[in-house]
Amino acid sequence: MFLFISRPTRTLGNRMQEIRERLGADFAAKLDALHRNALRTGLVSIEELQEAFRKTRDIGHNPNRLNLLWLLGIMFFIMVATPVFYETISFLLGVRCFLPNNYLVWEATRPISDCEFCKGVKAPLILANLTMEEFAPHAYSSLPIIVKKAVAHWPAQQHLNYSYIKDLYESFPDSMESDCQFQHFNSDLKSLKDVWAMSEERSNLSHGAPWFVGWSVCHPGVLAELRKLYPRPHFLPVDAEMPHADFILMGYEQGAVMHLDYIPRLMWQAQLKGNKSWFLAPAPECDHQCQPLSFYVEPGDAVLVDTRIWYHANTIPKGQFSLTVQSEYG
Ligand SMILES: [Fe+2]
Repeated sequence: MFLFISRPTRTLGNRMQEIRERLGADFAAKLDALHRNALRTGLVSIEELQEAFRKTRDIGHNPNRLNLLWLLGIMFFIMVATPVFYETISFLLGVRCFLPNNYLVWEATRPISDCEFCKGVKAPLILANLTMEEFAPHAYSSLPIIVKKAVAHWPAQQHLNYSYIKDLYESFPDSMESDCQFQHFNSDLKSLKDVWAMSEERSNLSHGAPWFVGWSVCHPGVLAELRKLYPRPHFLPVDAEMPHADFILMGYEQGAVMHLDYIPRLMWQAQLKGNKSWFLAPAPECDHQCQPLSFYVEPGDAVLVDTRIWYHANTIPKGQFSLTVQSEYG
């Protein structure tokens, strides 16, 4: 082994000496270091030495490495700089949220699903009206659940409608200015002011385009009055934490487009008026293990869906007015 290595070493040494004499001491020292490293790694010819030099030189100029750095830089810009930009613009324009539904950022930052929640799920679990004890085994399930006629006895089902809610808001003048979340979905109504400013003909769809909106009832006075017309669903666990605001969704035909909810708890909805069709889909990474499903709910039904993990969309039958109260528990 020693002879095999020592012979070409002397050849390389002679050549390196010639080069050293022609070049400066600094460069020659670098060549010496390269030479010693080459010997340590067992290189035996000039060609192998040249190949080692090429590889050393290319480490700093690897085009794939540069592409990866660019990609990471662009991802960092989208995930960090974009929200900062929109928040800054929102602040400068004096509006609450310049981009209310930054689904691109939410989608980019949501955790990857393990798909356990949707494996084998082909339909919602449909339960007859039941007690808290009977509901307990299902209370924190990720399986979509319909509890039939669970809210049919609520006064809200008889009394709540567009005019009642409009009058209630107008009885609290500061409620129009409150900083509550508003979703206009596909409609042209951009705020609650627009909703209450509709003509009667547009509001009941006897004239004009269909509309569908949803908003957080975060004004304490309005919320207190509304909650006189509905309790929390009687079958929910008694120790379930409830939020400080509920959500109202109402309108015609259009419904909510496919989305995830970025909320801290499980969701329940009380379908007060109209039928509503639900379309659920697993996260895209679960497409090969799970399947989408659809169902509909009728007035008086309660529906429970973990809308944080199920993508969901709704439609309302043509010509029907849908009114839903939504809240959270957990
Ligand atoms: Fe939703």
